[in-house]
Amino acid sequence: EPRIFSGVQPTGNLHLGNYLGAIKRWVALQTSYPCIYCAVDLHAITMWQEPAQLERSTREVTAALLAAGIDAKTHILFNQSRVHQHAELAWVINCVARMGWLNRMTQFKDKAGKDRENASVGLFTYPDLMAADILLYRATHVPVGEDQKQHLELTRDVAQKFNNDFGSRIAELGLGVPMQVGETKVDGYFPLTEPLIGGPATRVMSLRDGSKKMSKSDPSDLSRINLTDDADQISKKIRKAKTDPDALPSEVAGLAGRPEADNLVGIYAGLAEASKEAVLSEHGGRPFSDFKPALADLAVEKLAPIADEMRRILADPAEIDRTLDAGAARAAEIAGRTMADVKRIVGLLA
Ligand code: TYM
Repeated sequence: EPRIFSGVQPTGNLHLGNYLGAIKRWVALQTSYPCIYCAVDLHAITMWQEPAQLERSTREVTAALLAAGIDAKTHILFNQSRVHQHAELAWVINCVARMGWLNRMTQFKDKAGKDRENASVGLFTYPDLMAADILLYRATHVPVGEDQKQHLELTRDVAQKFNNDFGSRIAELGLGVPMQVGETKVDGYFPLTEPLIGGPATRVMSLRDGSKKMSKSDPSDLSRINLTDDADQISKKIRKAKTDPDALPSEVAGLAGRPEADNLVGIYAGLAEASKEAVLSEHGGRPFSDFKPALADLAVEKLAPIADEMRRILADPAEIDRTLDAGAARAAEIAGRTMADVKRIVGLLA
């Protein structure tokens, strides 16, 4: 049966891209499926993090998730480093994944930049840890933004190779679940996880440059809307957002070649839970001087309550820590069972 897992790095402020591409959808999935959500602090340290700031960011991200509507009582919310099986399974996966697979990862190339010799080894094996996160819970579906697609393909490759390499052992131990791989039925241990990438805002772009994705690391704060921004900041950033001089088209086809316009319409659609078609049938023909204030009002209406709630939650850090504690204990139960199975499958004496 379906099980959802997803993660977010506790590195600074969450922004509108994180919210529309991932978190808002995590919240929605909670009504239909068991969900496990994780602040991935072990992923964060693949790049340098100031220790005291990392502690703060982990609590902040947790507060943001709770404020956005993650229900840590019904579902599981925790920070990755508290469940040691993530690191343990990642090691086994390091021994399953191939150098060639990791060499193809575009995020590593982007993050390492020109000075690849000086990137951390953790940054290179980042996707293996991510596969471990997902497979530890044998998650079937992973809601993410477009930028994580390649990592999820790697996760499937890892699961498939593990199932093949250890297929007879898995069958011997009776740990397999029948699954369809192409034409053939095999008994696999890990599911072939499906990405859930959908909606009008799978790739929210910078407000200053329609060719760059909105990101925490952009030096310009005007390029993104942070979940902690107040109404004035939100309105100002939308007012200053880069656009072209034309009015909005009345059909989606008219957004082709207009990345900034496309981005603002996508953001509106994501916030309004509507399609881009619906947004354009209402706002098509309006100049940006008209559309931007409407977008700012909508963004403030949807985001300001989250920022308020986040501030309220952050006022009691001990309560945040208790939430993470309880989540880690429940995650560790599942993770412990998987890791025990994996050890038997691989032949690691327990
Ligand atoms: P991270 O922390 O960079 O981002 C968290 C989520 O936000 C999405 N996202 C975006 N979506 C749309 N537009 C954008 N501009 C934008 N920027 C970010 C990301 O796609 C992501 O869904 N490697 C992951 C964290 C991770 C993970 C996992 C995710 C670790 N283990 C296991 C899923 C399952 C990352 O760095 O996300």
